[in-house]
Amino acid sequence: MSDTISIQSRMRDYAVYFRDNVAADIESACGERAFFVIDSHVWKLYGNLFSGMPEERVVVMEPTEENKSLDKSKELIECLVEKRIRKNNALVAVGGGITQDVTAFTASVLYRGIEWKFVPTTLLAQGDSCIGSKTSINLGMNKNLVGNFYPPSAVFIDLNFLSSLELRDIQSGMGEMMHFFVYAGSPYLEKMVGHYKELIADRSKLREYIRESLLIKKSVAEVDEYDKGERNKFNYGHTFGHALEAISNYELRHGQAVTVGMDLANYIATNYGMMDRDTFGTLHNLLKVNIPQYDYRGINMDAYLKALSKDKKNLGNDLVCILAERPGRLVKHRMAMDDRFQALVREYFQGVMN
Ligand SMILES: NC(=O)c1ccc[n+]([C@@H]2O[C@H](COP(=O)([O-])OP(=O)(O)OC[C@H]3O[C@@H](n4cnc5c(N)ncnc54)[C@H](O)[C@@H]3O)[C@@H](O)[C@H]2O)c1
Repeated sequence: MSDTISIQSRMRDYAVYFRDNVAADIESACGERAFFVIDSHVWKLYGNLFSGMPEERVVVMEPTEENKSLDKSKELIECLVEKRIRKNNALVAVGGGITQDVTAFTASVLYRGIEWKFVPTTLLAQGDSCIGSKTSINLGMNKNLVGNFYPPSAVFIDLNFLSSLELRDIQSGMGEMMHFFVYAGSPYLEKMVGHYKELIADRSKLREYIRESLLIKKSVAEVDEYDKGERNKFNYGHTFGHALEAISNYELRHGQAVTVGMDLANYIATNYGMMDRDTFGTLHNLLKVNIPQYDYRGINMDAYLKALSKDKKNLGNDLVCILAERPGRLVKHRMAMDDRFQALVREYFQGVMN
């Protein structure tokens, strides 16, 4: 199995390298005089391993959604300029999707764009967000409202980082990977569920799943990098998931909410006659393995429906989302959030999930 995946991008091609102990030779991997933006938890856990990372070129960042902001990016720019970063120095993000988004966005605007590299340390970042070029910043309560497309110049995946991840962050990464597997009709969905406990116990075994997930994302991002058509289908599970993530006040992690979002999307597709009941049952039994414990019955339906109605992809009063007919066949769908729709959402959270 090759240790590298190459990615073509409109701005620059780059590669994803699978490496062991990347912390030990971070400076040679990332280039001389690189600057590092590192997740504060990762710094605490692994700081001593980054032997070649000089403290005067390190910025430690708290990875919160509040910090995925224009203010944080401005603060980071001021700090880097103070530290005398130059146009030819690379910025290296070390952490999960939050650290990635802030660093990549900052790199895209500083000096009109400097090189950035990424050492993803969460499963979600390794199996999904590290490729595809998107940078996203929140604006107040509006998630991912500001951003652009700005690919890294290299990504280094080291699975050793996964050993310290909380279970909910492993489930979050698995949820994101599952949505790629459903998109592609990949046998890895069943395989992941079949080996679920084993993968959580020994995270080094996730490698082939991360690879499969990235290969699926690559196949689409390379032809529709700017998300004008086919890539929209990766929103499967996300419209319903984002609303849940938001009303849970981010108690549910992104990919955990996406798992529930896929199941709800399938429930709606089934009741609208787009998915047959057997397919729903098969997928429900697979997805439920990754559905987190949560008080679904206690969900405030008005708040949930309001959050859905605010989705940035909506047209007029209609919800625009991706539904699956079956694994490997996803379609964009526009529907009224009428009484029937609202009753189905209620029924799902109060019946199917319990
Ligand atoms: N740009 C993109 O293409 C893209 C794609 C998907 C998601 N995202 C964004 O990514 C974010 C979610 O990313 P995430 O799930 O990686 O979350 P995250 O960056 O918030 O990290 C999750 C938690 O794991 C901790 N952590 C990181 N590495 C660790 C390690 N090795 N051991 C122990 N703890 C560790 C972090 O400190 C944090 O508490 C969201 O903001 C989402 O919008 C971006």
